[in-house]
Amino acid sequence: MLDGEDHRLHRQLMSPAFSQREVEKHWGAIVAVTQRMLESWRVGETRDVEQELRGLVHEVAMGVVLGVGDRKEIERIIALVDRFLTSAPRAMIFPVRLPGTSYSRLLGAAKEIFQLLETLVGERRGRTGQANDVLETLVRTRDERGINMTDAQLIGEAYNVLCHESTASALTWAVFLLAQHPEIASSLAEELDGTLRGDPPTASQLKQLTLLDRIVKETLRLLPPAPFARRFAAEQCSLGRRTFPKGTVVFVSQYITQRVPEIFPEPRKFLPGRWESFQPSPYEYFPFGVGAHNCIGGSFALTEMKIVLAMLVQRFRLIVPPGSRVDRSYELSLRPKNGMRMTIGAQDRGRGRTRVNGDITEMVDLE
Ligand code: HEM
Repeated sequence: MLDGEDHRLHRQLMSPAFSQREVEKHWGAIVAVTQRMLESWRVGETRDVEQELRGLVHEVAMGVVLGVGDRKEIERIIALVDRFLTSAPRAMIFPVRLPGTSYSRLLGAAKEIFQLLETLVGERRGRTGQANDVLETLVRTRDERGINMTDAQLIGEAYNVLCHESTASALTWAVFLLAQHPEIASSLAEELDGTLRGDPPTASQLKQLTLLDRIVKETLRLLPPAPFARRFAAEQCSLGRRTFPKGTVVFVSQYITQRVPEIFPEPRKFLPGRWESFQPSPYEYFPFGVGAHNCIGGSFALTEMKIVLAMLVQRFRLIVPPGSRVDRSYELSLRPKNGMRMTIGAQDRGRGRTRVNGDITEMVDLE
């Protein structure tokens, strides 16, 4: 939420914690949490896969970013964050601090989140040696002037745990799209089996999984979790032939741009093959944003998505139950409105699929 020089200095402080090398330090944690989720699944049962993946992503985020591993504590934090987020829209409409109002619920949750983060930051200030989590890395980092972040700045930045929400949505869309395109899912299972032979991927193996990479890219093109960004003109400016006065609100949409047919032929179709030789510019394809405020967690999100999909698809084939309805919703991210109920099957590289209804059919050509 910062701009200009303040933002630049913060980015400089935050960036080392999100480099590819740093992300690879958390590989084992992502694999372990995924393994636990998959161990709990049984062939033949139907689960809300969105909820499962959201739980997984939150657990990874709490562990990796905040260093919280205790399940009870994780559930407490998730419930707090949920209370905060669900109270926010109404609190903005009626910001009055009376007992029982959304505004006082919001403030109550904010206070508890603040106290929790304050404790976590305090504990890390007292530690020495190698940093174990992102928060600890941030506590140790100094900017170009040799200055550390203050407690308030660290607490402010720790909010990015919430950004992991987008990864959960992207993963849910990926498993849905695979279920609706069984021939692509089957080729992916073959690629994974040939390279990984049932094991979780290592960092060097992940680079060899080209179909997996294309599937992730195509999912983020077709159903970007962040479908648009908003900017305010800080001063009068022009874009092409248009002039915008100071204060103009400008929306930029990845959802719309990534469907321009001149750039992406047959834009409503899920075609991972289009990525074989195609390299769009950063202004044609930008699921992680573009410019000074682009996503700092992009590498983390892509790595996490690929590890989870590689492990899941080797073991299971998810199927959408007949008669399912899939609608969209936009809160923190573009996600399915009522979760994603799917039946868990063994990975048999089967080609069957079921028809779905709902406004997903406006967004994706599932014929
Ligand atoms: C598939 C998953 C994700 C998607 C699609 C996504 C997308 C985006 C987009 C589009 C922006 C730019 C917003 C704008 O221009 O206004 C952004 C910013 C940001 N994202 Fe992500 N994100 C994802 C995952 C993550 C993760 C896992 C983290 C944290 C580890 C993260 C942390 C951030 C932060 C801190 C910013 C603000 C950067 C700044 O203002 O300098 N994101 N993200």
